[in-house]
Amino acid sequence: MSYQASPNRYNEMLYRRCGKSGIRLSALSLGLWHNFGFVNDLENSRNIIKTAFDAGITHFDLANNYGPPPGSAEENFGKILHADFSNYRDELIISSKAGYLMWDGPYGEWGSKKYLVSSLDQSLKRMKLDYVDIFYHHRPDPDTPLEETMRTLDLMVRQGKALYVGISNYPAAEAKKAIDILNQLGTACLIHQPKYSMFERWVEGGLLDVLENEGVGCIPFSPLAQGLLTDKYLHGIPKDSRVATSGVFLKESNITPAVIEKISKLNDVAKQRNQKLVHMALAWLLKDERITSVLIGASKPEQVLDSIKCLDNIQFSEEELKTINTILG
Ligand SMILES: NC(=O)c1ccc[n+]([C@@H]2O[C@H](COP(=O)([O-])OP(=O)(O)OC[C@H]3O[C@@H](n4cnc5c(N)ncnc54)[C@H](OP(=O)(O)O)[C@@H]3O)[C@@H](O)[C@H]2O)c1
Repeated sequence: MSYQASPNRYNEMLYRRCGKSGIRLSALSLGLWHNFGFVNDLENSRNIIKTAFDAGITHFDLANNYGPPPGSAEENFGKILHADFSNYRDELIISSKAGYLMWDGPYGEWGSKKYLVSSLDQSLKRMKLDYVDIFYHHRPDPDTPLEETMRTLDLMVRQGKALYVGISNYPAAEAKKAIDILNQLGTACLIHQPKYSMFERWVEGGLLDVLENEGVGCIPFSPLAQGLLTDKYLHGIPKDSRVATSGVFLKESNITPAVIEKISKLNDVAKQRNQKLVHMALAWLLKDERITSVLIGASKPEQVLDSIKCLDNIQFSEEELKTINTILG
């Protein structure tokens, strides 16, 4: 039996306009950085995506290097898409990126036209798609002229290989320059994807203001600090957690007593709000209207359904915000 999406999928989800564009994104989006590579169980990956779509999540975020091995998340996503979602392509916002190391030699990373054009072509082949909805430059390149990188993004839109373009990990001043260049070229920057969570607040020092002034959306990645902003590490390291199963980007050494103390205090605040910490951590980002969507990860379908419950309460009192700020230090 082919997959039939839930007829109720658009009933509960919140959709927010992405900057000043015509696009609205689901308030939660799903990222395929972990749990979608060849090393993972394809059926579990498939179920996570179906669960997300059935719950109203329309946006799925990839990059050339997601796996492991690099490229395998796009390949698996392509399999799932063509087996189960061929009737739903026009209901999906699919993104990919290039910027980090993908292949050997001088053209396999950063921001040259040579690298970006080749990488997007590879991504489209792996996902068996004619176009992506959003293509990002994944990180700023200190050596390639910004004009070259932005001209390439503009070219991709003109060629129809990407409908929209975005930038990721760009500090405020560089983001402003990139947005200006894209505007001059006639292709607006749709969205910025920065790392942002209770534990990582650099965007509050200028980037969010730039994005608001320029009408560009914002989609924070790792909003749960890779799972730290849940109650799972409060009593040791569970066997099925990212620290135990992957341990590359989130390591046992990150779970220090000081971190646990903060998580424990935040968990108490969440309880007073009748929420779990995972819900409060996502709501804390979504309280700001400038945040278009939070880009979550999930290792199980149930986590997607759980995380969506954050939408039950995204309001904070001044008192709660003060308490949280004191805990975060
Ligand atoms: N642009 C960039 O440079 C960049 C960099 C990194 C990520 N990203 C994007 O952001 C996406 C999300 O990143 P992330 O995976 O680090 O996000 P995250 O939401 O901070 O962490 C996701 C992890 O937290 C745990 N989790 C999620 N929901 C949970 C729940 N309800 N209860 C308990 N645990 C829960 C799961 O880990 P376990 O169950 O395995 O413990 C899950 O894999 C990526 O997939 C990618 O698309 C972009």
